[in-house]
Amino acid sequence: MNSTQHQCDVLVIGSGAAGLSIALHLASSAKVAVLSKGSLQEGSTWHAQGGIAAVLDSGDSVDAHVKDTLAAGAGLCHPEAVNFTVAQSKQAIEWLIDLGVSFTRSGSGESYHLTREGGHSHRRIIHSADATGKAVHSTLIDKAENHPNIELKQNYTALDLLSQPDAASGRRRCAGAYVYNNTNDRVESFSARFVVLATGGASKVYLYSSNPETASGDGIAMAWRAGCRVANMEFNQFHPTCLYHPSANTFLITEALRGEGAKLKLPNGEEFMQRFHAQKELAPRDVVARAIDYEMKRLGADCLFLDISHKEPGFIKNHFPTVYKRCFELGIDITQEPIPVVPAAHYTCGGVVVNAEGQTDLSNLYTIGEASFTGLHGANRMASNSLLECLVYARSAAKSILSKLDTVEQCGPIREWDESRVTNSDEDVVISHNWDELRRFMWDYVGIVRTHKRLERAANRIKLLQKEIYEYYSNYKVGNDLIELRNLATVAELIIRSAKLRKESRGLHYSLDYPDTSELATDTVLVPKNLADQQVFVRQPEQNV
Ligand code: FAD
Ligand code: SIN
Repeated sequence: MNSTQHQCDVLVIGSGAAGLSIALHLASSAKVAVLSKGSLQEGSTWHAQGGIAAVLDSGDSVDAHVKDTLAAGAGLCHPEAVNFTVAQSKQAIEWLIDLGVSFTRSGSGESYHLTREGGHSHRRIIHSADATGKAVHSTLIDKAENHPNIELKQNYTALDLLSQPDAASGRRRCAGAYVYNNTNDRVESFSARFVVLATGGASKVYLYSSNPETASGDGIAMAWRAGCRVANMEFNQFHPTCLYHPSANTFLITEALRGEGAKLKLPNGEEFMQRFHAQKELAPRDVVARAIDYEMKRLGADCLFLDISHKEPGFIKNHFPTVYKRCFELGIDITQEPIPVVPAAHYTCGGVVVNAEGQTDLSNLYTIGEASFTGLHGANRMASNSLLECLVYARSAAKSILSKLDTVEQCGPIREWDESRVTNSDEDVVISHNWDELRRFMWDYVGIVRTHKRLERAANRIKLLQKEIYEYYSNYKVGNDLIELRNLATVAELIIRSAKLRKESRGLHYSLDYPDTSELATDTVLVPKNLADQQVFVRQPEQNV
């Protein structure tokens, strides 16, 4: 086999919680290749702070977790997806504990310490101090690195999915992907019986984001181009409290601080959340982010403040060592003074439409984790439900793939990537300029508070940008930045289109022109033009009131 052509049973694109979990579930019976754009650690999972929501306490119940998730989701969660996910939360955590993840124990050490976050009626967030992502991810990486059936390929950026006609089903099937090798600057092909997109979210489409650079929506854009539906892209979650500091590069201040009693304050020290919601600081995230945005605009303030300095310094340092250390490095002692905070884009609630097994509209293509739309999050994800979703759907997708593995043939030969008609770009500045422009107008026009006029402006801008990016993509050699820019533009267009279609305010989508919430709650499902050629077998969007 040519060195630029690779073959495996399952190609997993993404090495976060979703990608590595499915790889580990599959590896006893399948050869798995896992790709990551950069190092294995780059991705949102590593940065997760607060923890994982799960029903672990005897005073808590699946019903209560379900009820809270449905309430946070503002009428748009799919109840069957919520029940499915929450019912498996305990099993998902036990799996991590068995792998060796070290979660924080309670004072007596007999049980695990459970913290609280916005929207949760119980303490149910299991965590590893305030660096849960790092604890989970390093364990998954360690297990994957040591598994003989898992090949980890770092610095490989998937750029498009490959599909072929499938004689057995009469439909098209996913057959692999073209992948840009960042090390040798070449496009290589991976053929596989099954492909799993675990590429994370798209919050980098906004100027200010809590997310790492990898979050450019690649999987969502690739699946859309391959003919899969995407849904609810207008619901991008803004985390209420990211550190406001010129050198901080949007560092998250975990919601668990509020769970342990931190207060939001105006620049004059006044508390204000009681004016916005009965649950005050622990109201659902959309409410808190909008309240902060409102107060910042009303006062013309650059930031507001989060204050936990009334708690014992020992308690703060013990529970929040990461936040304490990072703030201290920047000259803020959180045991003595309030933390300057602003909202920033944090989580993509919409994504590629999948069923309970993570199966997309294209045969043999699965999507799991933040890139997927399972129906769990509705119009607003409840804190710490995301890592849970990664774990639960990684297991169900693996089960589905393993049940079909023996019946699916490797695909036929894949055409080499053709670069004969493109040249090296002599104007890389165009890419960085377009990237900045896109992220700025998304922040200005498609942010926390929207209007019809702002969305129209964004729609006009994205049309022009896409034309330019398309020309660029057609004429010049691809590289990581161009691949990401092309995907960001696709995802931005999907977000804008979805936001324009929603003629109401609900959860994370707030429009000054449509401030009321409709009685009927419907998903915004976008159908690609080429889907008509295929047989759709994923459930139709449901309407939940
Ligand atoms: P990621 O972990 O983002 O991984 C994506 C992977 O895909 C990466 O390996 C990346 O390199 C790879 N990739 C992307 N595109 C390509 C491509 N084209 N080719 C090859 N590889 C590609 N959620 C919680 O539940 N609890 C929390 O406490 C919590 N805290 C958070 C704190 C922060 C700062 C952030 C940013 C998020 C937090 N979240 C939290 C959300 C949660 O971390 C993410 O939703 C979750 O980790 C997503 O996991 P994932 O596996 O889907 O994607
Ligand atoms: C946080 O720790 O505040 C983030 C939790 C989440 O995004 O689920």
